[in-house]
This record gives sequence, structure tokens and C-alpha cells, in this order.
Amino acid sequence: MDDHFNYQNKQLHVEQVALADIAALHGTPCYVYSRAALTTGFRQFSDALQGRDHLICYAVKANSNLAILNVFARLGAGFDIVSGGELQRVLAAGGDARKVVFSGVGKTVAELRMALEANILCFNVESAAELDRLNEVAGSMGKVAAISLRVNPDVDAKTHPYISTGLKQNKFGVAYTEAVALYRKAHAMPNLRITGMDCHIGSQLTETSPFIAAVEKVLVLVDALADEGIALEHLDLGGGLGICYQDEAPPAIADYIAALLGALQGRTQKLILEPGRVLVGNAGVLLTRVEYIKPGEEKNFAIVDAAMNDLMRPALYDAYHDILPVDNNPLPQACEGTSAKTPSIFEIVGPICETGDFIGHARELAIAPFSLLAVMSAGAYGMSMSSNYNTRPRAAEVMVDGKTVHLVRERETVQQLIAGEKIIA
Ligand code: LLP
Repeated sequence: MDDHFNYQNKQLHVEQVALADIAALHGTPCYVYSRAALTTGFRQFSDALQGRDHLICYAVKANSNLAILNVFARLGAGFDIVSGGELQRVLAAGGDARKVVFSGVGKTVAELRMALEANILCFNVESAAELDRLNEVAGSMGKVAAISLRVNPDVDAKTHPYISTGLKQNKFGVAYTEAVALYRKAHAMPNLRITGMDCHIGSQLTETSPFIAAVEKVLVLVDALADEGIALEHLDLGGGLGICYQDEAPPAIADYIAALLGALQGRTQKLILEPGRVLVGNAGVLLTRVEYIKPGEEKNFAIVDAAMNDLMRPALYDAYHDILPVDNNPLPQACEGTSAKTPSIFEIVGPICETGDFIGHARELAIAPFSLLAVMSAGAYGMSMSSNYNTRPRAAEVMVDGKTVHLVRERETVQQLIAGEKIIA
């Protein structure tokens, strides 16, 4: 917990608003974001980079709600996108296409066209085949595409294998040993203009050493290219800085930046970063209500109205999210199978028909039916990875700004879910 999420008179608040009031207004499950937390995180980056030519390209995939993109755009952010859809979101949110970098291994012709049309800052190209395709598409449009190659530095990010991207065996980027040859190839292509080098080694990193190892390897390539007369304007070092979910101790943003700047050894290229999680993860919670308490033979279950479709990180990565009671007063009356005075240990699960549908294991809580819970650190890869499994409309999203509550996405309706479907004759 930090300044933006705290108890006031035993009621959990986001900034100056009680979460219980948000539940009463907008129902549950509901994602709630703190504008101040978003702003604080972004400023920590820009302050640490003051005096250095830089661009902070927020990784849209972490949370792509327009209100969040707009908050960052107004703070001067650029954006790291991985699809045409994300580009359309950035533009709809008032973001500047000239500050967009486009990552991803599978960019389609239509997506390349859309991004060229919008005049984005740079394509982070991830294969030889993509160089060919981009050169061709740009040529057909009479344009020159600015590119960097995403280099796979083959360093161990020491994170969950599903979110580690900088190892040889991963699908991302071009092989380290082939990078220089591919730069030469790109250099000779008429419709491409080399502007930078890119690398991203994984997500939820809690140490600086893998970042530094990657920078050092990148710089070797930068020097080799310079020797061949290929000068780079920018270095994009990706995202990946972790946050504290439970007891992790990732470096502070300022320390991470200081370490990167140190490793860059006075290079003057513009520095691009692509942070996602660290900007939004601890700026949001998932608000949910207990539906049933179900005492079991071995375990007690608290069945809540949020599920793996709303927050799939526990099911997918066995990820830990803190779960806090919204009302921290003792329970008024005991409920079956639990004691009101002493908290019990619960499995916090959703209503979906899968054993993998859990939000948290073995949590000690004093709760009863209709108690509200806050699933913490849910701002990153929560809503953006949600689905409609079990025909569950997606949650509402709310942004708190001081004392004001803004509904930034209405709760989905079943009508919206089935609107594109047809029964055949
Ligand atoms: N840049 C690129 C090219 C990326 O692939 C990613 C994340 C980022 C930047 C942002 O990384 P961040 O700063 O957020 O770590 N769904 C997973 C995380 C997947 C990350 C994918 N790539 C999770 O919930 O933990």
C-alpha cells in the first residue's frame, strides 16, 4: 500500500474516495485506478531522465483504457504498441503518433500500413522477413519507414518463464549473432531508414543486473555498426521493471534509471524506454464482493464475484495479489463455518467452472457474504487480459482523481457480447 491506497477510519480508500462508495455507485467487479498514482509513477521516470534526451513510451498492453492513455499522453508520454488496435486506442486517447514505437513479432500488412499512414516514430522490427515486408509496404505507399531492430541479447531476466523474452529460445527479436548482418541488409533497403536499436528482455524483473547485461551487449553492436558507418539516433531499452506484489524488492525507478544511464557510459543517443507494469500495476485494484462463504472439509472457500476472466494472472502465472478487506472493522455477526471475531483462512475463488479459477490461496480474512474485497496491484495486465469466458461481461473501470470518481469504462452488457453473433437458417 502507498499514499494513494490506504485506510481512513478503517475504510479502504483510493485517494479521497472510499471503495465502498464506488461499489455502491458502480457495482462489482470493478477496476479502480488512482490518477495520482499514475502521475507519480510517470514523473519518477521523467524526473530521473531530466537533462537526457529521452522518450517514455508507455507499454499500452499493460492497461489500454483510454483514460489511462490520456493521462500519460498529457504528461508527454509516447507509447509502445503491439497491434493496430493499440494504435487506434492511442490516437483515440489523444496520443501523438510521432511518439509511437511498434513492437511485436507478427505485424500484418494492414497494421504496417496503418502505422505508416499515421507516421509513427519507429518500427521495432523482429525478423528478416519483417524487414522485407515493411520495405515493400512502405515502398508501395511512397514512404520511408523508420526502423530499429529488436535484438535478442540472450540474457536471463530471472523472471517467470512465460514473461521472459530475451533468451535465445524465445520467439522475440533477431538473434544477437545475426543483428549486424541484418542491419546491413536494412541499410541497403530503399524504403527503410535505420534510426535505432531496441531490446526488451522480459517483465517483472526485480534486479538491475539483467538490464545492465543487456545494455552492455547492445552497446557492442552499436559500436560495430558505427564502425561500418551506421549511426543510430536512439536506443530503446524496453520495459520490464517489476513491482512489489508480495515481498519482492525491485529497484526504485530512480535507481533503475541511474543504473541504465551508468551502463550507457555517456552515450548521447536519445533513450527510449517502454515501461508498462511499473507505471500502472500498483495504481489499480480490482474491487469485488463476496457472494458466498462455503465451508469445506479441507478448506473454506469465499466465492467472490470477480473471476479468472477478470484477472487471469493468478490462474495463468500462479501470480500473487494481496487481498484486503474494504471494511477493516470487526464483523458484526458470525457466519456459518467461520468465526466473526477471529479471521479464518479462505480460498478466494470466482464463480467460473474451473479449479484454476482462483484469485488467492489461503488468505486470512474476517469476511461474510457481501463483504467487499480489494485485490491489490491489479492495474497492470488485469483488465487488458480479461475475457468473456462463461459469458461474463467485463468489469466496469473507474478512475479516482482526488475526491472525484470518473467512470472510465461502463460495465459490459450481455447484449454487447452477443451483438455480432448469428443463428444460421
Ligand atoms: N515492451 C515490450 C516489447 C513488451 O513485450 C512488454 C511486455 C513491455 C514493453 C512492457 O513490459 P513491462 O514494463 O510491463 O514489464 N501478462 C504478463 C506480462 C507480459 C508482458 C509482455 N510484454 C503479466 O501479467 O505478468
